[in-house]
Amino acid sequence: MSGEPRKILVTSALPYANGPIHLGHLLEYIQTDIWVRFQKLRGNQCTYVCADDAHGTAIMLKAEQMGITPEQLIDQVNADHRRDFAEFLIEFDNYYSTHSEENRELSSYIYKACLDAGKIATRTITQAYDPEKNLFLADRFIKGTCPKCKAEDQYGDNCEVCSSTYTPAELINPRSAISGATPIEKESTHFFFKLPDFQEFLQKWTRSGTLQPQIANKLAEWLDAGLQEWDISRDAPYFGFEIPDQPGKFFYVWLDAPIGYMASFKNLCARRADLDFDEYWKKDSTAELYHFIGKDIINFHALFWPSMLSCADFRTPSAVYAHGFVTVDGAKMSKSRGTFIMARTYLEHLNPEYLRYYFAAKLTSNVDDLDLNLQDFTLKVNADLVGKLVNIASRCAKFITKAGGKLSSQISEPELVEQFLSKSDFIAQAYEDREFGKAVREIMALADLANKYIDEKAPWKLAKEEGKEQEVLDVCSVGVNLFRILITYLAPVLPGVAAASAEFLNAPIVWNKPLQPLTDHAVNEFKAMISRVDPKAVDAMVEASKDNMAQAPKDNGKAKKDKKEAKSEEEIAPTIKFDDFAKIDLRIAKIVSAEHVEGADKLLRLQLDIGSEQRQVFAGIKSAYAPEDLVGRLTVMVANLEPRKMKFGMSEGMVLAAGPGGKDIWLLQPDSGAQPGMQVK
Ligand code: 2FM
Ligand code: ZN
Repeated sequence: MSGEPRKILVTSALPYANGPIHLGHLLEYIQTDIWVRFQKLRGNQCTYVCADDAHGTAIMLKAEQMGITPEQLIDQVNADHRRDFAEFLIEFDNYYSTHSEENRELSSYIYKACLDAGKIATRTITQAYDPEKNLFLADRFIKGTCPKCKAEDQYGDNCEVCSSTYTPAELINPRSAISGATPIEKESTHFFFKLPDFQEFLQKWTRSGTLQPQIANKLAEWLDAGLQEWDISRDAPYFGFEIPDQPGKFFYVWLDAPIGYMASFKNLCARRADLDFDEYWKKDSTAELYHFIGKDIINFHALFWPSMLSCADFRTPSAVYAHGFVTVDGAKMSKSRGTFIMARTYLEHLNPEYLRYYFAAKLTSNVDDLDLNLQDFTLKVNADLVGKLVNIASRCAKFITKAGGKLSSQISEPELVEQFLSKSDFIAQAYEDREFGKAVREIMALADLANKYIDEKAPWKLAKEEGKEQEVLDVCSVGVNLFRILITYLAPVLPGVAAASAEFLNAPIVWNKPLQPLTDHAVNEFKAMISRVDPKAVDAMVEASKDNMAQAPKDNGKAKKDKKEAKSEEEIAPTIKFDDFAKIDLRIAKIVSAEHVEGADKLLRLQLDIGSEQRQVFAGIKSAYAPEDLVGRLTVMVANLEPRKMKFGMSEGMVLAAGPGGKDIWLLQPDSGAQPGMQVK
């Protein structure tokens, strides 16, 4: 708060443009947004930029699967991402896309600088190739039988059953996860960034306070083990930027993704006179640059990125801040348990500020995973925000309104108010250090003190006594002032509640100069600022998260959508008792009609005849069947499954099919002789 305002540029990792934002993502955006809001509130010039990470094979294939162009896909996803972030009160100064002209120019510029500096090598490599799709296959697009434990349907680099790692060449019966074809080996020329040439630079950079201690130690291990050249090119067809003067060769998505940070900022500079691109990115810049990321992408941000920047004569990041993963109820987010929660599903049931508060209360500066315990979430938010914080204002406000709506002209408890004000530096430092949990604990300890003061003074009793009007007003004016200090400290976490408080207090929330208590000041009528978390809404959100995934095949045989999602894929279901199994009523059903579902990329809407009646069921079999091929075919269905309300309508049962997914989903043989309504035994 002293001296010149700092100039700070902040980024969060760029989410892939092929899927929705979920709670795993949100930890990072909430963490960054709190830090940025704190900096702005303290009067610093802090700029927060982000973008969609729009390139790569996965996005190209997903668009193809949806029958749209990659540009259409990334535009749709961009709109969804912006909407989700805005509703979680994540306030970017710019939210852009890596598929932009600024990014193309900057990526080419940096590449050429590296080329001119002799840091790009070319050589021919041999890779798996899908002869049907005419596409080189990354390891994760190859599936086959594990060479160690013989588990089928394993990805090309590791076995999810026995955890062994291997090369795709070692897989038994390998096939392309995209077309099912047997991959062949094919040569092509690739471009490599000579990372080993930056060993010395990185040794210094990673030890210069830019990284958290745990991360710096990890990097020291990697550096000791020696660095490899980094493959930065991909062959056509690829959705990305073509490498200058190299037709048919594209930049690997991870080359242009971090450059997307610069490009988003550049795009913002074009419409903000107060921001100068060079001032922030030139080699000797005194502006600060921070990247908030997940711990899984540290190599890209702490090895390749600073090396490329320094090679192209740009400044390097002031620091890279990594966080851990989100678990829910102590376990990886799980689709079947309904704990793989999309941002949108959360928003349909709960107030975003609950989650902002809960994450803040548990965030530290280290890389440990953070558990969202749903019961604790409900209890903590209700106890702290409703029971402690807002309670202070609501208990005092009505007496002030009764007394005419104006606070006392003097503070009757200056020491108490001073005690609250004196914590300002401690709390500010905790925010600065990303120790949000520490800040929240301190603020809640003060909230306890405020409530204790009001309890002891009991203005509701005083109000009944003759001649105590001034005392009631004095006590409540102190209470409102204490509330104002607390909400100022919490404003980075709870911007919505802070805005509602500013309205009530009839005063802006500022924290860039010493707070002067409000005296002789008219406040507005108090309106409820936040309601209690309804445990039923939490349950409904979990149920809805199960619905979102219901009947979609576990893996559609295409690319895993992104690493964060892939990490939380399902484990084997627990065993069930025979009695439970016996409850399932399996029937032969005839498909009377089948049709596409608008907005669903996996589902078909089926009308099924089970002899006695017809049922509508949504089945995730679109990757394997065109609707017209299904009419008249027989399938087995779970006839007594409770109807489920899905996004697209009611689903009254479930279709059973076999196979790994993708094109390989099998229903009954058309001529199996079964009749609609027959029980399956
Ligand atoms: O891991 C991911 O989700 C990437 N899309 C993050 C990119 S961050 C930056 F480098 F662009
Ligand atoms: Zn195995």
